[in-house]
Amino acid sequence: MWLTWRAATERALYGEEGFYLRERPSGHFRTSVSASAAFADAVLSLLAEVDAELGEPDVLDLVDIGAGEGVLVTQVLESARPKLRDRLRVTAVDLSPRPPGLPERVRWSGTVPAGIAGLVIANEWLDNVPLDVAEQTADGPRLILVDVRTGEERLGGPLRPADRAWLERWWPLTRVGSRAEIGRPRDEAWASVLVRLSRGRAVAIDYAHPVDNRPLCGTLTGYRDGAVVTPVPDGTCDITAHVALDACAAAGISAGAISTTLSTQREALRELGITGARPPLDLARADPRGYLRALARASEEGELIDPSGLGGFGWLSQKR
Ligand SMILES: C[S@@+](CC[C@H](N)C(=O)[O-])C[C@H]1O[C@@H](n2cnc3c(N)ncnc32)[C@H](O)[C@@H]1O
Repeated sequence: MWLTWRAATERALYGEEGFYLRERPSGHFRTSVSASAAFADAVLSLLAEVDAELGEPDVLDLVDIGAGEGVLVTQVLESARPKLRDRLRVTAVDLSPRPPGLPERVRWSGTVPAGIAGLVIANEWLDNVPLDVAEQTADGPRLILVDVRTGEERLGGPLRPADRAWLERWWPLTRVGSRAEIGRPRDEAWASVLVRLSRGRAVAIDYAHPVDNRPLCGTLTGYRDGAVVTPVPDGTCDITAHVALDACAAAGISAGAISTTLSTQREALRELGITGARPPLDLARADPRGYLRALARASEEGELIDPSGLGGFGWLSQKR
């Protein structure tokens, strides 16, 4: 069966028996959440900042979109001080079923709630929002079709005007044979989050590329059992593509964001106190076990802010 990449990915990841409805993400790839609890500590610091900005309201929302196995919200709840924890309304949004063992306090939802007042976090969600792929031909850009069983590709029809306009603005194709991933569905997904945020901050964290440095042939990739594989949309692997976060930022502004920061995870986490600094050697003598724990933590923090790895991820932060 031949489909556009967007339709094929939707079916492979979220259709009946789709990859994400069946599989546990942590079995297939590592995210900042699975790399270290230091990431949840940073999110907790961010939540405390938002709480102060909103004047410590009686109810403070924490909404995790694309929550996967619910690890991030569970860790934040465990570490929050009672004064903050008691006021938290925690919602984990995912299309997969509620994971067993999630704290009762966490609401599990297939859709983003409306009227959010607090912090929205979306770690590696947008890269899993399906999109179409276009290839430049001598007659202009054409959609690429994919065989859902083999991953074989062929050229399809011309682009719809809205997709063509998106490419012209956000991913201009000049050379014949060059390819682009049309990020319009991700812009719409992100804008719909901003619309549901009444007060506070929304943060999207993902592999990203800027408009002046898009990859020539796109970034469509498959992951299975921790390894990179050819992206075949047959439901046996994750299918992901880097995110045009600058385009999402513009969509967020149109949806009502009043301030926007686009930075790297390294910059954002360092501001939240994640430095990767090693513990002082004196601690090794005074408290050898504590020293080893602190050393392990420093190495995890180092992974989160490594500029050639997770630290190179984009952080889009918008306020309403
Ligand atoms: C790469 S995983 C990230 C999991 C987790 N945030 C982490 O960092 O470990 C992406 C998750 O997004 C979820 N997802 C994709 N599209 C979604 C949508 N439209 N609404 C809710 N969840 C979605 C998938 O089911 C999957 O669990």
